[in-house]
Amino acid sequence: MYQFDIKLLVYLLLVVASGYCMANDGASIQLNDDVLGLIVFKSELKDHSSFLESWSEDDNSPCSWRFIQCNPVSGRVSHVSLDGLGLSGKIGRGLQILQHLKVLSLAHNNFSGNISPELGLINGLERLNLSHNSLSGLIPSRFMNYTSIKFLDLSQNWLSGPLPDDLFGECLSLRYLSLAGNNLVGQISSTLSRCSSLNTLNLSTNHFSGEPDFASRIWTFKRLRTLDLSSNAFSGSIPEGVLILHNLKELQLKGNKFSGPLPKDIGFCPHLIRLDLSNNLFSGELPESFRMLNSLSFINVSNNMLTGEFPQWIGNLSSLEFVDFSNNGLTGSLPSLMGNLKSLNYLSLSNNKLTGFIPNSLVECTKLSVINLRGNGFNGSIPEGLFDLGLEVVDFSENGLMGSMPRGSSKLFESLRILALSRCLQSWDTFRTLTELDLRNNDLYGSIPEDICESASLGILQLDGNSLAGPIPEEIGNCSSLYLLTLSHNNLSGSIPKSISKLKKLKILKLEFNELSGEIPQELGKLENLLAVNVSYNRLIGRLPVAGVFPSLDQTALEGNLGLCSPLLKGPCKLNVPKPLVLDPNAYANQIDGHRPRSESSNPKSSRRMFLSVSAIVAISAAVIIAFGVVVISLLNVSARRKLAFVDTALESMCSSSSRSGNITANKLILFDTRSSPDWIINNPEALLKKAGEIGEGVFGTVYKFPLGAEGRMVAIKKLVTSNIIQHPEDFEREVRVLGKARHPNLISLEGYYWTPQLQLLVSDYAPNGSLQVKLHERLPSTPPLSWTNRFRVILGTAKGLAHLHHFRPPIIHYNIKPSNILLDENFNPKISDFGLARLLTKLDKHVMSNRFQSAVGYVAPELTCQSLRVNEKCDVYGFGVLILEVVTGRRPVEYGEDNVVILSDHVRVMLEQGNALECVDSGMGDYPEDEVLPVLKLALVCTSQVPSSRPSNG
Ligand SMILES: *[C@@H]1O[C@H](CO)[C@@H](O)[C@H](O)[C@H]1NC(C)=O
Ligand SMILES: *[C@@H]1O[C@H](CO)[C@@H](O)[C@H](O)[C@H]1NC(C)=O
Ligand SMILES: *[C@@H]1O[C@H](CO)[C@@H](O)[C@H](O)[C@H]1NC(C)=O
Ligand SMILES: *[C@@H]1O[C@H](CO)[C@@H](O)[C@H](O)[C@H]1NC(C)=O
Repeated sequence: MYQFDIKLLVYLLLVVASGYCMANDGASIQLNDDVLGLIVFKSELKDHSSFLESWSEDDNSPCSWRFIQCNPVSGRVSHVSLDGLGLSGKIGRGLQILQHLKVLSLAHNNFSGNISPELGLINGLERLNLSHNSLSGLIPSRFMNYTSIKFLDLSQNWLSGPLPDDLFGECLSLRYLSLAGNNLVGQISSTLSRCSSLNTLNLSTNHFSGEPDFASRIWTFKRLRTLDLSSNAFSGSIPEGVLILHNLKELQLKGNKFSGPLPKDIGFCPHLIRLDLSNNLFSGELPESFRMLNSLSFINVSNNMLTGEFPQWIGNLSSLEFVDFSNNGLTGSLPSLMGNLKSLNYLSLSNNKLTGFIPNSLVECTKLSVINLRGNGFNGSIPEGLFDLGLEVVDFSENGLMGSMPRGSSKLFESLRILALSRCLQSWDTFRTLTELDLRNNDLYGSIPEDICESASLGILQLDGNSLAGPIPEEIGNCSSLYLLTLSHNNLSGSIPKSISKLKKLKILKLEFNELSGEIPQELGKLENLLAVNVSYNRLIGRLPVAGVFPSLDQTALEGNLGLCSPLLKGPCKLNVPKPLVLDPNAYANQIDGHRPRSESSNPKSSRRMFLSVSAIVAISAAVIIAFGVVVISLLNVSARRKLAFVDTALESMCSSSSRSGNITANKLILFDTRSSPDWIINNPEALLKKAGEIGEGVFGTVYKFPLGAEGRMVAIKKLVTSNIIQHPEDFEREVRVLGKARHPNLISLEGYYWTPQLQLLVSDYAPNGSLQVKLHERLPSTPPLSWTNRFRVILGTAKGLAHLHHFRPPIIHYNIKPSNILLDENFNPKISDFGLARLLTKLDKHVMSNRFQSAVGYVAPELTCQSLRVNEKCDVYGFGVLILEVVTGRRPVEYGEDNVVILSDHVRVMLEQGNALECVDSGMGDYPEDEVLPVLKLALVCTSQVPSSRPSNG
């Protein structure tokens, strides 16, 4: 940075080191002294912003340098003022050779290290300002040249330790001393009393302690204007009769442990403007003498133990702007003369024992913006016109005020930031005619008044961005005209009141960023006009209302809760699970293999123990139900625990050969199994399909039956519904090939496909016995109902087929498990059809997909709102659970009566809880073993658990 002449540098160092500064008369070196001193000083600091660039050792005089002033007569440097230049490093010794320096100000930099003992001793130095730096260590002893120093400011550094005993010598010249904002400790040396010319003494925000008798004299400094001892640990009482500070303008003693009565003498400081005695242990009454403080504009005696009558003379102190008497034990009432306080801006009298009326004259305090009377015994009503003053903060809570809000409080809400009236006003009459109440971002605190909707006309209520706490009152339901209700960004807690469902006009409900808990009342689904809801960032759990706007809410409206159940949300889904279901897996195992009579159980005790422990675990945690469910499903599988063949390699090779020959843009039929020759490819498949027998209309399209190949083997051909021409045949092809590999005795296997841009056909197994749907719900009277054996076979087979799908790589989620997708072969073995089509068709056509799914009421898991496929196999497990219930009960999942709707799973659950589960069982199926049917029902209920994580995964 600086090109120092080495010789110059050596010279300088020598000069400095040898105490050269003491030689103050050498005319020959006079010219260079100041240049050298400043250059040395500069060389030891870091000047990041190059403010000191103009300082060059080549100059003969520094008087033209920035931040330097010289005495015009002597031509020597008198002022070095480097405030706020971002300088850092050490305060070097160079400054000590500036023999004519009067003012050295280095405030608001980042100088660090200790204070050099010589700095304050510079001959003739009058003002030393090192405030707002990072200086540390002790204050050096004999630091000041008392004959010259007038202003010493060491405030806001990291200075520590006690003050040296001899800090204050014959410091008659000292006018200003600030050591505020350091870490200084200990008592104040009594030598301070020698600095009797002080007019500012600021020792605030340190750790000074002891009785202020250092003092018996401090209180007599005739010139003292500002005394700040605040935020220390001073204690003891202030002696009576010693305080003669006739010039005192500001007395700050707040935040100490001063005790005893308030000194009367303060009243004899006629010029006192600011008096802050808050946060001490002062007791007794406010001295009568204070009535003479005609200049006082600021008085804070809050947080003491003052007692006695509220000063009736306060009206005399007409300069008062700020009055804080809060948190004392003052009694009595407010004088009617309050109105004299024409400058009063801030009035806090909270938490005293004041009583009586709020004087009407307060309305004359036209500058008033904050009024806090919380926690007193005021009664009567709020003075008419008070709220016309443009108040910002009003807190009348916890009083005995009666009546109504004053009329014509029109200005109130223009300026209001805080309004707290809790447990205060008995009615919000003002709001009776209000149609719109917008108090957003107002720092309101307290709770939402229960009678906020005394006004049936209120249409808009917006209280967002305040500090409101407590519950949303149930009475909100009285706001019958409300169409916009926004309470976001508060601290509201409790649950969302059901009564909101009474707000038939409600269009927008915003509750985000509160502490609301519990479940969202299902009743809110009934609000037909509701367009937008946001409940994000609360502590909500459970299912969303199934109706209304709720199923279509997106992630941003729901996220950040404890456990809302939605496929859009990551994280847990918590429910107030009613009662844990208990299923005895051992009993069930016995039924499954059926060969081992219960009496032969090798150790009945151990099986009993297992039962207990399993049920205990289930009771403890819903999550464990998964494990439990896995046990059950694997028991279901016990008779067929052989390894499943995933991929038929032979078929695979066939597929790849045929795909090589295929041209993807042309019409083509691909069959995975070449046993059936593709000789039925014709030019007009539509015509062919017309000829083929239509056997059904499924969710994904129309199904035809067709004899394939020479043997005439029957296949099912499904014509897919897609509303648009397929854009990505490659995707289609890839997906179908994957599906073709999923083969299992309980799956309708995909045999091939036919593809043109306009027409897509899937060729699959044909199951002669039709669908379970027909057997269960659309049975002709001539055909007998399914026996329990067949029903059980269906359940078991479906479980195996699903397990195969879910264990497939990549897993195939069915999304649409229901009886019409379970086809039955000659022996009533179930075969799951339509698997993987959900995914396939979503790729092809999202629109079709979501429409199709909405028809599947009753099977679609609650968290699957039919618009999203970001769900997992738990969703199939739910569908499977419903299917079991249908198979066992012979009823449909949702039955619509004349005036009621029966949800099968809820119905069975209730019956089971009442011990009447067997009443649900389909009576048509004749005899059945109760001890088989019951566990199956229980399994179904576990599968239809509302909480996805507590549904078993079918292992
Ligand atoms: C001040 O200096 C100290 C080290 O002396 C450094 O850690 C700190 O970041 C500096 N602060 C600023 C504002 O430059
Ligand atoms: C203090 O400064 C005066 C000049 O104002 C000087 O005469 C005196 O020697 C200095 N005292 C000390 C202790 O440096
Ligand atoms: C020290 O400097 C700061 C910042 O410029 C200023 O606020 C303060 O009043 C000065 N102190 C004295 C005693 O001049
Ligand atoms: C005392 O110094 C502190 C810290 O610099 C300052 O905040 C406070 O205002 C000063 N007190 C008075 C009465 O000026």
